[in-house]
Amino acid sequence: MRPDPSEKLALEGGPKAKRTPFPPRKRHGELDKRLLEEVIDADVLFYWFGTKVREFERRFAAFYGRRHCVACSSGTAAVHTALAVLELPPGSEVITTSITDMGGLTGLLYQGLVPVFADVEPETLNLDPASVRQRLTARTRAIIATHHAGLAADMDALTAIGREAGVPVIEDCAQAYGCRYQGRLAGTMTPVSAFSLNHFKHIECGSGGMILTDDDGLRYRAALFIDKCYQREEGIRDPFFLAPNYQMTELQAAVALAQLERLPEIVERRNRLGSRLDQALREIPGVTPQRVRPGDTHTYFLYLFRLDPEKLGATAEEFSVALNAEGIPNKAHLITGGMPVYHYRIFQQRSAFPGSSYPFGDRTYPKGLCPVAEEAFERWITMDLFEHWSENDIDEIAHGIAKVAWHFARRHAAAPV
Ligand SMILES: Cc1ncc(COP(=O)(O)O)c(C=O)c1O
Repeated sequence: MRPDPSEKLALEGGPKAKRTPFPPRKRHGELDKRLLEEVIDADVLFYWFGTKVREFERRFAAFYGRRHCVACSSGTAAVHTALAVLELPPGSEVITTSITDMGGLTGLLYQGLVPVFADVEPETLNLDPASVRQRLTARTRAIIATHHAGLAADMDALTAIGREAGVPVIEDCAQAYGCRYQGRLAGTMTPVSAFSLNHFKHIECGSGGMILTDDDGLRYRAALFIDKCYQREEGIRDPFFLAPNYQMTELQAAVALAQLERLPEIVERRNRLGSRLDQALREIPGVTPQRVRPGDTHTYFLYLFRLDPEKLGATAEEFSVALNAEGIPNKAHLITGGMPVYHYRIFQQRSAFPGSSYPFGDRTYPKGLCPVAEEAFERWITMDLFEHWSENDIDEIAHGIAKVAWHFARRHAAAPV
């Protein structure tokens, strides 16, 4: 795709590449309303007395072909629960990715576990197995494999490392509904996996989360963990470990059930639209989409592409500003606020529990810890990609990216050396 070189950038007064407005987004409809009404009519919002949370757990587990789902209040709660059920002793090290949401790390700190950040692969921004291997120590007790932006992490390599080290791997699937690694659904490849239903996810109910497992013991501990360790199934109230209240309500479950009905279509459309954009970007100089392994299925929670500064001579910030002016909303700084998560003050100041350096001990998180992750913020552009967009929306986006990329590439090639 080579746009007309006489076409000026929108930033410089030219026409916008996005000529037609994006269609309005409507995520909730008649089914959500009906199921919510059923909850209100039943006059029961508490999961233990209701039916909707149970039904959602059954259906979500069936959707993934796993034996058990335990629903909870958020993705943060789900990752926390997934870690808690593994009964890792406080002070244990858990290897995780340096580009993720804070919610994927919060539970780790609450369990007294020490986060050990591994670097990401330059072509996918997913956890780099080579870096994980380097981070293994005698204190490593688990690995969290986060599937970044809807693209599967290298699960064969990561589960092999876990097996060799004798430690479990957990999948964080908050961003990865319907995504597949070599045909296998993300969320089915480890003993326990975690999902989020927050506003930004493929499906949402305001806030919510799930864990999946095939193991009866893990299911039981998760059911206790999300409910203060009350043994409701036995009618006993005698907690024997520390557990928060992470219950999902019937209201959340009603909406989550309605959303689940739409999930196959959402996943299919995002995959189709994202693949179409990938295809278009292959013909544009200096921009490369996330690399999708042959045999994998990307479900584009977000659409990410990498800039080649050698070809474009532009920073991610400059590219982003020009693309926004074309009517194509995007960000230059991924979703973490422009830094790898270990640059957050909580890790730099080791202030999870102010007044103490618990649970970090003497661990520090210096600059340069994960060079690929640190450089990513200068190279990657992040955009939404929604299932209700049309093929024409994608083609106009591709045109906008091509226009901006060719503009910078031409300007860079013409610049005196
Ligand atoms: C990878 C990942 N893990 C965990 C979470 C936390 O989910 P929630 O916001 O539902 O607590 C998120 C949310 O953005 C996420 O992207």
